[in-house]
Amino acid sequence: MNKTMTIDLASTAAVDMNGDARVLMPGEAPAEHPQSLLELPAGEARESLFAVHGILGKELPPTRLAVYEAGGGSTSFLPLDVLRRAHVTVVDIDEDQIRNNDYAQETILGDVQSYRFAPGSFDLVICYNVIEHLADVGAALEGFCESLKPGGLMLIGAPNPRSLSGVVTKYTPHWFHVWFYRHVRGDGNAGKPGHAPFPTFFHPLVTLSNLETFASTHGLEAIYWNEYESPRFPEMRLRKPALAALLDAAAAVMNFVLPGKVDVRRGDYHVILRKR
Ligand SMILES: C[S@@+](CC[C@H](N)C(=O)[O-])C[C@H]1O[C@@H](n2cnc3c(N)ncnc32)[C@H](O)[C@@H]1O
Repeated sequence: MNKTMTIDLASTAAVDMNGDARVLMPGEAPAEHPQSLLELPAGEARESLFAVHGILGKELPPTRLAVYEAGGGSTSFLPLDVLRRAHVTVVDIDEDQIRNNDYAQETILGDVQSYRFAPGSFDLVICYNVIEHLADVGAALEGFCESLKPGGLMLIGAPNPRSLSGVVTKYTPHWFHVWFYRHVRGDGNAGKPGHAPFPTFFHPLVTLSNLETFASTHGLEAIYWNEYESPRFPEMRLRKPALAALLDAAAAVMNFVLPGKVDVRRGDYHVILRKR
């Protein structure tokens, strides 16, 4: 299932009553967006996150919300209208990340694979840029599922292991990830305590088709499912155009020779699951 939309977010986008993007009416103020969304380069990643925000706005109850951010770290990708009416509980294994967190009402130093809440505690569980770091994704997902209220939502954002960036991340050592963040992305803090990149495992359940099977066998219904171009591509086109051109050319060749309608640029995905 692939759902994408194209929006000029900076100036003209709003979400209508159906959660769909629409052009602003004359004189209408643009919606406020979290820094995490504004910092994404224009492109499919930002569009997909914007679509996710529209769906959460439409599907979550219009009341106070109990939200569990698994591996929340110090950045939330949730829309501001959700964050403002939510009691957010973050569980993260990294003390520095917990210390830097400024949006959660409750922070817990713990491992999302083993930490358990009372069944039916949350309206929303979000696990964003985390499952690729876990050795036992199944244990974590079972805990998330149990902690959700019936009808509650689970949002997962993760890298696609069957993409160019996914394969490179999976098969290169951690020092290379740190080098990439420092010298290609320009992040001087990369690799320091409490800062990305974090070591990756890429458990088989990170692969979309396996995650889909897990969801359907654990009483979870997929309501949004979108693979999108990794934001590293538009970032690189701005910061390192020669390297970006080389990678774009390599991706075009791979897309041509690989069977099926694959796009190896689609390095990340969003999934929203609903507990039946
Ligand atoms: C790439 S960061 C993502 C943070 C935040 N969700 C975001 O998108 O910016 C990965 C986070 O997962 C946390 N993490 C990794 N393994 C974990 C585990 N087993 N239990 C809890 N947190 C974990 C790391 O400490 C880190 O904060």
